[in-house]
Amino acid sequence: MTSISSLGSVIEIGALTESSFPVLLNDYSNYNIVIVVDENTHDSCLDYLITNFPSLDQAEIILLPCGEENKVMEVCMQVWNAFSEYGFGRGDLVINLGGGIVTDMGGFIASLFKRGMNFVNIPTTLLGMVDASIGGKNGIDTGPYKNQLGVISNPKFIFIDTSFLDTLPEKEFYNGYAEMLKYGLIKDVALFDVLKGFKKESDFHRVDIIEKCIRIKVAITDEDPYEKGDRKLLNFGHTIGHAVEGCFLAISPVDHGHAVGLGMCAEAYISMRRGLLNKEDFQTIQALLGKIYPCLDFSDKDIENMITLMYNDKKNESGKIFSVLLEGIGSATYHNELSEKEIFDSFHHLSMLSTSLN
Ligand SMILES: NC(=O)c1ccc[n+]([C@@H]2O[C@H](COP(=O)([O-])OP(=O)(O)OC[C@H]3O[C@@H](n4cnc5c(N)ncnc54)[C@H](O)[C@@H]3O)[C@@H](O)[C@H]2O)c1
Repeated sequence: MTSISSLGSVIEIGALTESSFPVLLNDYSNYNIVIVVDENTHDSCLDYLITNFPSLDQAEIILLPCGEENKVMEVCMQVWNAFSEYGFGRGDLVINLGGGIVTDMGGFIASLFKRGMNFVNIPTTLLGMVDASIGGKNGIDTGPYKNQLGVISNPKFIFIDTSFLDTLPEKEFYNGYAEMLKYGLIKDVALFDVLKGFKKESDFHRVDIIEKCIRIKVAITDEDPYEKGDRKLLNFGHTIGHAVEGCFLAISPVDHGHAVGLGMCAEAYISMRRGLLNKEDFQTIQALLGKIYPCLDFSDKDIENMITLMYNDKKNESGKIFSVLLEGIGSATYHNELSEKEIFDSFHHLSMLSTSLN
C-alpha cells in the first residue's frame, strides 16, 4: 500500500481491502453513510464494495444519471433535497464511487451541503485515478461552460484500487490516457516516452505509471492549490479542449479525453508556430495524438462558436484567451495570450491532418 499526503487528503494506492477504508467505516459506524454512484458504477462497482464491506449494506445509495450533460445544478438540487429528506448532517460521510463526473459532482454536493460534509473519493476510471479525484477541484457545468460552478475542497481520503478498471470499457482508457500524456508533455519527458509505447491490453492497469501521474499532479497542486501559478500548467490542451467539449455537448458530445487530445495537438501546433517547440517534437506529438484522437469536422462557424466559449472560460480574463504552450516535450509555460487567428490556424491544421491521415 502506497500512501501519499496531499492538501489534507490521504491518497492510498492499493487494494481497498488492505487500505484504511475499513478503519474509516468503523470511525463512521455511528453516522449515516451515503454512496454516490452513476448508473454504470452502480452496476459494475457497488457490489465489490458491499461484498467486501458488508456494513455498507445499510448505506443510502444516491444514483446519478450518466454523462457530462447531467453534471448540472438541477441534478445537484435533487440530491440536496434527498439529503434533507434523509436528515443527513455535517458529520455524516459521502463516498463518491465513480469516474470524474461522480467525484466532481459528489465532491461539490458534499462540500456545499450544510456548509460541508466529509467525503472520500473512490475513482473507478483511469481518468479519475490519475486526475479528477485529486487536487480538490469539485464542480459542475452551466450550459456549454465546463466546471463554471465549483469549490476547492479536499476529500479525507482518495482510495486508488485499480481492480475497478477491470470493468471499464476500452474507450474510457483513452480519456485517462490523454491526461497522462499531458503530464508527460508538461513535466516529464521520460514519462512521455513510456506512454508513447503503451499497449492497451496490458499497460493501462500499470500501477507504477498511475502512481507516477498522481505524484506529478500532487506536486503541482500542493505547491499551488488555488491555481495562482504553476497549477495553470495542468490546463495544457484544455483551453481549446474545453471549448470543443462545450461546443458539441448539446449536439453530439465529444469525450473529455478526445477533446483534450485535440486541444493538446492544437496548442502544440501553436507552440511550434511560435518557435517555442521544435518541429521534430511537434511531429512526434502530432503523430501520437492524431492516431488516437482523430480530428472532427469543424466548420468556420464551429470555430467561431468555440472562440466565444474560450472568452468565457473561467481560465481566461480581461477579454483575452490564455493558453499553456510547450517549450519542448516535458516543459511548458502558462499565461500565453492566443490570437483568434492562431486558434483558427490550429483548427485548420487539425482538419488538414485528418484529411492526410484518411
Ligand atoms: N476535478 C478535476 O480536477 C478534473 C480533472 C479532469 C477531469 N475532470 C472531469 O472529469 C469528468 C470526466 O471523467 P471520466 O472520464 O472519468 O468520465 P465519467 O465519470 O463519465 O466515466 C466514464 C464512463 O465510465 C463509466 N464507468 C466509470 N467507472 C466504471 C467502471 N469501473 N466500470 C464500468 N464503467 C465505469 C461511467 O459510468 C461513465 O459512463 C469530466 O466532467 C471532467 O471535467 C475533473
